[in-house]
Amino acid sequence: MTTNKFPADDSEYYPGFGNHFSSEAIAGALPAGQNSPLVCPLGLYAEQISGTSFTAPRKHNQRSWLYRIKPSVTHEPFKPRLPKHGKLVSEFSQVNSAINPTQIRWKPVEIPTEPTDFVDGLYSVCGAGSSFLRHGFAIHMYTANKSMENCAFCNADGDFLIVPQQGRLWITTECGKLQVSPGEIVILPQGFRFSVDLPDGPSRGYVAEVFGTHFHLPDLGPIGANGLASARDFLVPKASFEEESRPGYTIIQKFGGELFTAKQDFSPFNVVAWHGNYVPYKYDLSKFCPYNTVLVDHGDPSINTVLTAPTDKPGVALLDFVIFPPRWLVAEHTFRPPYYHRNCMSEFMGLIHGGYEAKADGFLPGGASLHSCMTPHGPDTKTYEATIARGSDAAPHRIKDTMAFMFESCLMPRICPWALDSPSIDHDYYQCWIGLKSHFNNTENTSLQNGHTESEA
Ligand SMILES: [Fe+2]
Repeated sequence: MTTNKFPADDSEYYPGFGNHFSSEAIAGALPAGQNSPLVCPLGLYAEQISGTSFTAPRKHNQRSWLYRIKPSVTHEPFKPRLPKHGKLVSEFSQVNSAINPTQIRWKPVEIPTEPTDFVDGLYSVCGAGSSFLRHGFAIHMYTANKSMENCAFCNADGDFLIVPQQGRLWITTECGKLQVSPGEIVILPQGFRFSVDLPDGPSRGYVAEVFGTHFHLPDLGPIGANGLASARDFLVPKASFEEESRPGYTIIQKFGGELFTAKQDFSPFNVVAWHGNYVPYKYDLSKFCPYNTVLVDHGDPSINTVLTAPTDKPGVALLDFVIFPPRWLVAEHTFRPPYYHRNCMSEFMGLIHGGYEAKADGFLPGGASLHSCMTPHGPDTKTYEATIARGSDAAPHRIKDTMAFMFESCLMPRICPWALDSPSIDHDYYQCWIGLKSHFNNTENTSLQNGHTESEA
């Protein structure tokens, strides 16, 4: 385990989303006036990490310059990691995954008792597309109980958005250290080396991975210049470094969904200073400023988008990260829970803590659900009946002590066999809707009130 201190509060990070930051663990370590001097201050090596193509438009261009004790190229050749991991997918096809339009729900997966670190405890659940073709996504989960030891992970395939559900993550990156608690998220962009310590032992969480793009803040449109996730609430680590020898240190590279290892004799967290806008960052979901209806009807869930990974089509997300935070429900003569729905997008949901407003039971913290493209979903029978029983004069109601979220994608996910065969699958999920009964009452003859007769309808 890394023994250096992890940040305890927000003041130990840089605030801001998409900023160009400069960070020095030793004053004067950053070169002045140029990126790659003949000899860098303190005898450091200059190394760029590019998160976009060199020629990406300036407003999208992401890169950082790292000034390090030894460059990251200083390692032995990569070799396939053995035994094979076997449960990570970055190119979803008929060979490695299946399709199933049924509503699927998973109970919380048990955290293993045998020693398992973040890498070994990470497994793909579903996804679509290909990291090779730089278009697609994967949804993973992790269950682990021990810190990564003398090794770092590097994801060459895409960006990770990690949602811890149980247990803090102490994440050491090349840009510095992050402490990420349940209720916060962390983004680890493609290519950064990082190590995960688990100070609380047994840990569980969700991971979205996007291929070929990065997360942005959503446009706010008529909402205006403020609201939802505020740029100032995203936190970026400050430079810190390790200089001691680390014999046998292993870099684990996820490359095309397969794991490779390379040995080196030093820590990859040897960056004394850095500058740029391609960085890891975290965000506390309790800082989200939700907007909602104040008169009638239920807003579309997109109103709660925290981050979006866009496609080239305007308004169509490769992957949206949406939350359902505590908030007031005040709509008049309105069915306040989420409406019944079929969606051209596919929706994967998780629950960090508490309950979810559309499910009276069965959807548990650490569990998950998948409602694929055009698969119907919505409130369960208990929720529907309880809502109707409350009547149209229901007082304003505050949803408390909950944090559910959704990964939503325009691509149709294929599901990994171990997720479909998992003992955590809730085979009775469909039962939550089977009890929905007809409330149809033809004696009210509402068709006439609508200006036409039954024979015309
Ligand atoms: Fe939906």
